[in-house]
Amino acid sequence: MPEDTPNPFTFDIQFGENITLSSYDNHIVRHLSNMRGQFLDSEAYQRMLDEDDRLLYEVYEIHRPEVPGELLHGISIVHPGKVGDEYYMTKGHFHTVLDTAEVYYCLRGRGFMVMENPQGNWSVEPLRPQSVLYVPPCWAHRTVNTSAEEDLVTFFVYPGDAGHDYGSIEKQGYRKLVVERDGTPAIVDNPRWLPPEKR
Ligand code: F6R
Ligand code: ZN
Repeated sequence: MPEDTPNPFTFDIQFGENITLSSYDNHIVRHLSNMRGQFLDSEAYQRMLDEDDRLLYEVYEIHRPEVPGELLHGISIVHPGKVGDEYYMTKGHFHTVLDTAEVYYCLRGRGFMVMENPQGNWSVEPLRPQSVLYVPPCWAHRTVNTSAEEDLVTFFVYPGDAGHDYGSIEKQGYRKLVVERDGTPAIVDNPRWLPPEKR
């Protein structure tokens, strides 16, 4: 056993008005200004940004070394809201080590995980409290909150060496968008998406 092997540890996921961790090392915040180019309706995006640089989502992480044997974990909180008719969402990413998976456990809220692989196959899975979502190796993943008033809160675990590649998926966007149509969430084609052979 290596000398620097850490001791086991425990922390609590605290369920109150907000879901919090009893201890964490990093608090990452993503505002509207961090999401330029991600929402389809760029005019609605600019109008909202001119008003206020709202907080869209947050991540609380437990720090672990970024090496293969470790598991990085924490909670992700996507707040409710829309840009135009597209729901608030995370940027989404492939893992830099492409063939690394991730597990999400939904703690609160309603929404979807929008996923696609480098071949252009797509999958959109629902997230609701107590559902466990498995993101297989090689699938880009983005969390979308479809509730009008509630946070979408998930607990995630993924390999320490996975890393994040935001650039690849950012260029052509995701194949599918989650938007509000007649008051309910709908999964629609992204008109800006390009199939792999046209990129
Ligand atoms: C880690 C992971 C999540 C996301 C978080 C924020 O691999 O998938 O912890 O990092 O939900 O989303 P991004 O990183 O896409 O801004
Ligand atoms: Zn990930």
